[in-house]
Amino acid sequence: MIADSLSTLPVAHGAPSPSPRRSRTSWVRRFAFALPLSLMGCLHVAEDAAPPEPQQASPRTLVAAPLSSEIDALEIAKTRPIPQVDSMEWADLHNVFWLGDRILSGGEPLSTEALDRLQEMGIRTILSVDGKVPDWQAAEARGMRYVHIPIEYSGIEDEPLAQIAKTFRETEGPIYVHCFHGKHRGPAAAAIGRMVLDGVPREEALAEMYQWCGTASKYQGLFEEIAFADIPSEAATAALEFDFPKEHKFEGVRAAMIPLTRRWDNIKDGRKRDWQVDPNHPDIVLEQEALKVAEIMQECLDMEDYHHEMPHSEQVLTWFREGQQGAANLARVLAQKDQYEQEGKDWKPLALEAYQAIAASCKECHLDYRD
Ligand code: HEC
Repeated sequence: MIADSLSTLPVAHGAPSPSPRRSRTSWVRRFAFALPLSLMGCLHVAEDAAPPEPQQASPRTLVAAPLSSEIDALEIAKTRPIPQVDSMEWADLHNVFWLGDRILSGGEPLSTEALDRLQEMGIRTILSVDGKVPDWQAAEARGMRYVHIPIEYSGIEDEPLAQIAKTFRETEGPIYVHCFHGKHRGPAAAAIGRMVLDGVPREEALAEMYQWCGTASKYQGLFEEIAFADIPSEAATAALEFDFPKEHKFEGVRAAMIPLTRRWDNIKDGRKRDWQVDPNHPDIVLEQEALKVAEIMQECLDMEDYHHEMPHSEQVLTWFREGQQGAANLARVLAQKDQYEQEGKDWKPLALEAYQAIAASCKECHLDYRD
């Protein structure tokens, strides 16, 4: 597309700067001239959600220059006009979108059938940016390669950013990019792919995150990364030493968060169904899920050091304690609900209160130390 190719100017790079967000003012000076051109990219037409015909990778796609730091990245993501597209949904694969014909974005493949489906859709490489170690053996058995580059909700550091750009440029596509729900971190990584593989304007990559994939406005750092980050050139990623690891194992709090969030999702679903058993998952027992959440929160309480920017402060311990107590209370209420009902007592407000205590602990701690 002519307008797009005009908007993609080469970006010169040396070693990545330690913090892309701190060096934004220099981009303004270096790239102010590029802005009117990047605004011309508005003629781009979005691709259909159906699996596309495989295409040859175009050589040497140039990355659009960063936007001016005066611009509100989230506002662009919300208002840049792009066609409305619905996600593809399956019980074991959620929020799936084709972004161009070489990048598929979505949630974690929750079964081997979901991997079969990705294979049928032509996927050759799967990039996970979630913290959980992926089932790369099952993917390899289906002829697909897994690359695991976990990122955070607060933004993408220079090192994973360069590794993600390299993965898009140097592994075989089409590539499926996922986090857990396929809404926030995965789409941000996919947006890097859109810029390095397809040369889309930054505005368009931002709009796809927000308007299609549903990236939440509270993850401002992810939007800012796509708007302002210096994306390493092809030469820089070619020179980067990186062996596309299949797995990256965490310890401590981050490792604990991975089962915690999956148990918590089951509890959230249970609450939406008014605490009834999910007919599709009769194996999930909500009381057990709550006990597990309490157990993981207790493990976090017992850790000596959080190995993160999060201090071992009284406030942090209080959040874990409140989460632990909320979960233990929820388990107790759910265990006794028959008894409550026999006595004619309404146990649901008690369950809701315990549920809200857990929700508050996740939310408040993440606001300060994660997002
Ligand atoms: C007291 C603080 C605290 C509480 C409570 C807490 N978290 Fe976290 N969580 C964190 C921190 C810190 C990180 C980032 C860890 C890192 O990047 O090393 C994190 C990361 C995560 C992640 C990202 C994991 C990944 O894939 O990298 C998820 C998901 C998550 N938390 C879910 C939850 C849920 C769900 C709850 C509540 C049931 C919860 N957390 C409660 C502090 C907390």
